[in-house]
Amino acid sequence: MTEMTKSLETALTSDLFWESINILLSKPHVINKRLWGSKIWFRNTCKPKSTPFKLPATLHLLSDLVATDNVEQYKIQILNELDVDNILPNTSDNEDQVEVLLMELLPKNYSDKQGYQVACLWKDKSSITFYDVTPLNQEQKLCPDFSYTIQLNTNHILLTAISDENSKSFKWLSNTLLPQLIKWGTESESSTKSNMCNESLSLVSQTKYYEKYNDLKVKYGKEMVKIWPECTDASKFVYEDVAIAAYLLLLWEREEPRSSKSFVDLGCGNGLLVYILSQEGHTGVGIDVRKRNIWDMYPPGVVLQTQIDLRFLALKEYALLVTIGYIYKKNIHNTAIE
Ligand SMILES: C[S@@+](CC[C@H](N)C(=O)[O-])C[C@H]1O[C@@H](n2cnc3c(N)ncnc32)[C@H](O)[C@@H]1O
Repeated sequence: MTEMTKSLETALTSDLFWESINILLSKPHVINKRLWGSKIWFRNTCKPKSTPFKLPATLHLLSDLVATDNVEQYKIQILNELDVDNILPNTSDNEDQVEVLLMELLPKNYSDKQGYQVACLWKDKSSITFYDVTPLNQEQKLCPDFSYTIQLNTNHILLTAISDENSKSFKWLSNTLLPQLIKWGTESESSTKSNMCNESLSLVSQTKYYEKYNDLKVKYGKEMVKIWPECTDASKFVYEDVAIAAYLLLLWEREEPRSSKSFVDLGCGNGLLVYILSQEGHTGVGIDVRKRNIWDMYPPGVVLQTQIDLRFLALKEYALLVTIGYIYKKNIHNTAIE
């Protein structure tokens, strides 16, 4: 292990550098293909307890996964180790302030485990240091397992790490991440801001979306991937439907908290979306021209049909189908609805 560095020329200003870093922190999956997202557990403005101050070379790994009831304890541990005190943001200028955050990295691949990184943002030095603090038993493969610093200096951006010369992670940091940071900053500057924030998520809070997605993934996804009887790629479909369900559930919750919605999924395919929405307390039906093997494995409350059987439709679902022209009211006779 030696100190490795990589430097790239850039005309980025400090503001643009931080814009880039914020993209990296809020949406690491845009560049790290092993991730589907991240969750920030805390982000605190801090002040060093003593001067001169130097960030430590490494941090202790967490002893367990981060959860709502132990995050406070981990925060105290991390801030103590960094030798900084929590302060109120904007109580003074940026000088000597360091922002500390704990980030959970969520893996795209089901068999991978999540990772945890602490990031220290040293605003007045245009520098950020990342530490891997993933509990040892997680064997994470999502981020470099060594600490590294990215700093903006006059006319160049510098990566420093204590790493192996042939480390793939170091190569990824120098050849992929570093140029991307410059690119994001340059794009912001030329105000062709490619909106990295998924437009389609803009109706719901991204943090809430990731939380909901993660909850649903744990609740339904893992089991589904195990029992998947179709010849299609289980994780692809499960991911997609869990993502759609997470989005819809938040949208509906926002419209009318705690009320049950009616829905119709036309061309429902495997029916997973109908299954999740039904289990989450909403009433609906899935319709598809072709029945799938997995349909028989869902519990009785999950209504999936190859033909519209109006007896299973609530008035609202029926109205929905009429509205979109899927069925014509004049053709309906002697149904449970009438
Ligand atoms: C692209 S797949 C989408 C499946 C599912 N909604 C999903 O997101 O995984 C389209 C589905 O529409 C179904 N489909 C096509 N034409 C249909 C029709 N006229 N009535 C009902 N289902 C139809 C197909 O069988 C297929 O399952």
